[in-house]
Amino acid sequence: MGEDWVPAGVDMSRPSAARVYDYFLGGAHNFAVDRELAQQIEAMTPNIAETMRSNRVFLRRAVRFLVDQGIRQFLDIGSGIPTAGNVHEIALEAAADSKIVYVDVDPVAVEHSRAILVDTPNTAVVLADARDVDRILGEASKLLDFDRPVAVLLAGVLHFIPDGDDPAATVAEIRDAVPAGSYLLISHATADGQPAEVIEAQRLSGRTATEITLRPAAEIEAYFGGFELVEPGLVFIPRWRPDPQDPVDEHPERIGAYAGVAKK
Ligand SMILES: C[S@@+](CC[C@H](N)C(=O)[O-])C[C@H]1O[C@@H](n2cnc3c(N)ncnc32)[C@H](O)[C@@H]1O
Repeated sequence: MGEDWVPAGVDMSRPSAARVYDYFLGGAHNFAVDRELAQQIEAMTPNIAETMRSNRVFLRRAVRFLVDQGIRQFLDIGSGIPTAGNVHEIALEAAADSKIVYVDVDPVAVEHSRAILVDTPNTAVVLADARDVDRILGEASKLLDFDRPVAVLLAGVLHFIPDGDDPAATVAEIRDAVPAGSYLLISHATADGQPAEVIEAQRLSGRTATEITLRPAAEIEAYFGGFELVEPGLVFIPRWRPDPQDPVDEHPERIGAYAGVAKK
């Protein structure tokens, strides 16, 4: 066993959420156990790969939007294994003075992020759990100035925090740490409008260290307390500010996840 990009101590016999996501996005940083689980999930919910790609496209659109709003500092929590069109690439292309801190709990995501950012100034990578807000803020403040607006990105990550760990409290802690003018971005998986197979597939995620909790729109919207959602509010991902040339999506609910961006 062992490939040269695998950090020491990684359990290659258990699938991880970051590597399953990498597989769905067509990345190369996944193991046989990840591919096996991904294929099982895909057999039950054929739209899953499209949902993940759609989340990634949303993230790119939203980062461009945030740069347009004048944001130059990004704290990307649950940033994932780097793939095409990463947050730092989009942000730096749009504004060369952008600063980006990536945070992930998965060592493969962190190692690979560090490797690709070695020559990119104004970026940093932190290995931390999203629930450990104090540590994240402590590390991030080495690069980011928390007296100036920050965009906090929680893309596809809050559904990995179970209700018992109070994700709303985590988001509230982050909200209290950022100044007015900051933004919060959330995308989150849901069972709203989904066929029963989605619930079955969600149970499969329990094989990773991080089982998914699907949440209804009202619960996800509540995470934005203290922020004001920008248009069009919390919507199925394809409906969040599609490019003008994109065809109107008549069935955005086939993408089983919501997205929203809000300003403090
Ligand atoms: C679906 S990926 C999303 C990646 C990226 N944010 C995106 O939207 O394209 C979810 C990421 O969240 C990470 N993650 C899961 N639970 C986490 C936690 N408690 N703290 C930090 N990261 C976590 C996983 O390791 C994975 O890399």
